[in-house]
Amino acid sequence: MHVPMNDLQIQYRQLKPEIDRALAEVIERCSFIQGPQVEAFERAFAAYCGTRCCVAVSNGTDALKLALAAAGIGPGDEVITTPHTFGATVEAIVQVGARPVFADIHPRYFTLDAEAVNARLTPRTRALLPVHIYGQTADMAALWQVAQAHGLTVIEDAAQAHGARYRGQRAGALALAGCFSFYPGKNLGAYGDAGGITTDDENLAERLRQLRNHGQDPKKKFSYNEVGYNHRMDGFQGAVLGVKLPHLDAGNARRRQLAARYCDGLRGLAPVLTPAVAPDCEPVYHLYVIRVPDREALAETLKAASIQTAVQYPHPLHLTPAFAPFGAGPGDLPVCEQACREILSLPMFPEMTEDQVDFVVEQIRRHYA
Ligand SMILES: Cc1ncc(COP(=O)(O)O)c(C=O)c1O
Repeated sequence: MHVPMNDLQIQYRQLKPEIDRALAEVIERCSFIQGPQVEAFERAFAAYCGTRCCVAVSNGTDALKLALAAAGIGPGDEVITTPHTFGATVEAIVQVGARPVFADIHPRYFTLDAEAVNARLTPRTRALLPVHIYGQTADMAALWQVAQAHGLTVIEDAAQAHGARYRGQRAGALALAGCFSFYPGKNLGAYGDAGGITTDDENLAERLRQLRNHGQDPKKKFSYNEVGYNHRMDGFQGAVLGVKLPHLDAGNARRRQLAARYCDGLRGLAPVLTPAVAPDCEPVYHLYVIRVPDREALAETLKAASIQTAVQYPHPLHLTPAFAPFGAGPGDLPVCEQACREILSLPMFPEMTEDQVDFVVEQIRRHYA
């Protein structure tokens, strides 16, 4: 049996008639950039997340960059974030001219730790950028409290958390703005690069729409209100996302089922720590990440059994060449540094079968027998 990390072809085959029709419609209408399918998706995704607005953009990185810029974050400002994320989170902070400040993570949930955030506050701190890593939201109540006490803006990196809930509310509706990536392998994935920003703030949404389209006045083409960007979503991506969104909840429910099966199968196996669900959270298992003391050896065993695994992420961001200059060194964020040595992502995608989960579990049990 072969078990891949993900299999996008199965999903395409299941939705092929709808997807092909939606893509053909973009061609017929020549609505290649933004256009009606993108606008329809914006309305549908805002309704799904429970926010007033959604602004579709070119990718998740640009979503973060635009959200920070529209929130007025720039040179001289500090943004506190997690070192345990994809580099784009921190890249966006640097690209708006602000300084990223890393705070450590919770050892079981891998999300930004509010107490650690408190210890990193300075008079220049302007914003918090928590990441709902692996599909589970950060401890938002604790972060809201810090933000409120110090007058900080909170922006969510929800790139891995489409549909996740915190106290019943969706990711993307838990802060000033929620930033999504629709990279093909995400829980809601396009057929190319795409992203989106959700917000309840109509003025912010207006500014985001202007910024994504070269800063042009929405009512006066070729008149530029500010220096903006070309961060628009293309029509094909809006069309694909519009077809896939109605299937997101079923896919997430299936991921939770598979996660439960993994957890049951691995229960009591001493060296393996399975993912923990934080209070108030309903995760969507973008990734299913275990912790083991001998990560490389286990990955080798699974590879020999034709089971793909991955490490998301092996390098604490503060120790990588790009982000080391921002001041944190080895030992400064010990919880993250330890996690990076022990984490291993197992295959997880809605089309995965029970037999495949059981096979992975069996191979892990055999490894530790
Ligand atoms: C946590 C996180 N933030 C940001 C991004 C960036 O998204 P994109 O690749 O669409 O630019 C990703 C994508 O992998 C991500 O996982």
